Amino acid sequence: MKTLLLASALFVGLFSSTAAVPPPAPFPFPVPYHAFCRALWLFATPCAEISTTIVQQIQVSGPQYALVSALPLFVKANHTSPDGVQAQNITFSFSPTVLTGGCRVSAQSTSLGFTSLLDDGLNYCNLYNLLSNSGLISAPGFMEMTNEWACLGYGLAKCKA
Ligand SMILES: *[C@@H]1O[C@H](CO)[C@@H](O)[C@H](O)[C@H]1NC(C)=O
Ligand SMILES: *[C@@H]1O[C@H](CO)[C@@H](O)[C@H](O)[C@H]1NC(C)=O
Repeated sequence: MKTLLLASALFVGLFSSTAAVPPPAPFPFPVPYHAFCRALWLFATPCAEISTTIVQQIQVSGPQYALVSALPLFVKANHTSPDGVQAQNITFSFSPTVLTGGCRVSAQSTSLGFTSLLDDGLNYCNLYNLLSNSGLISAPGFMEMTNEWACLGYGLAKCKA
């Protein structure tokens, strides 16, 4: 009963406040937003091996990538675009999959500046290029799970050959 009253109070509040909100600005509305890509990678290889490979790949990937910190199960890096204007934070967290002796990697790249809703797959490519250039993409059991909601520009990313 209490819940019901609360719910209807919220409902009324919602409608009355909606009425007071000014009409939306004309489209395109510049939405302040940290563009990001989040992906889950599965491997049939232990995490120690996967994280070592990723750290090495960050280190050999040239001036665009910089390793910030590396713990056994958590790696932080950043990426700066060739024009030096855009920067993205990159994190990897590694979870051993106990039953299969494999590794589950939660990878994320986030734009530091407020960018538009379109990033041309930049954040996805930050992750994908490490995967692809290190050969992890053909590692045993490799599987990638993401979608357009978790990873902006995933469907259109040009780095996917
Ligand atoms: C990227 O990381 C390096 C190493 O920690 C740091 O020196 C640099 O300032 C970072 N760049 C950005 C844009 O955060
Ligand atoms: C990016 O990484 C830096 C250094 O670890 C951190 O201070 C900053 O809050 C991060 N920014 C975002 C948007 O995640």
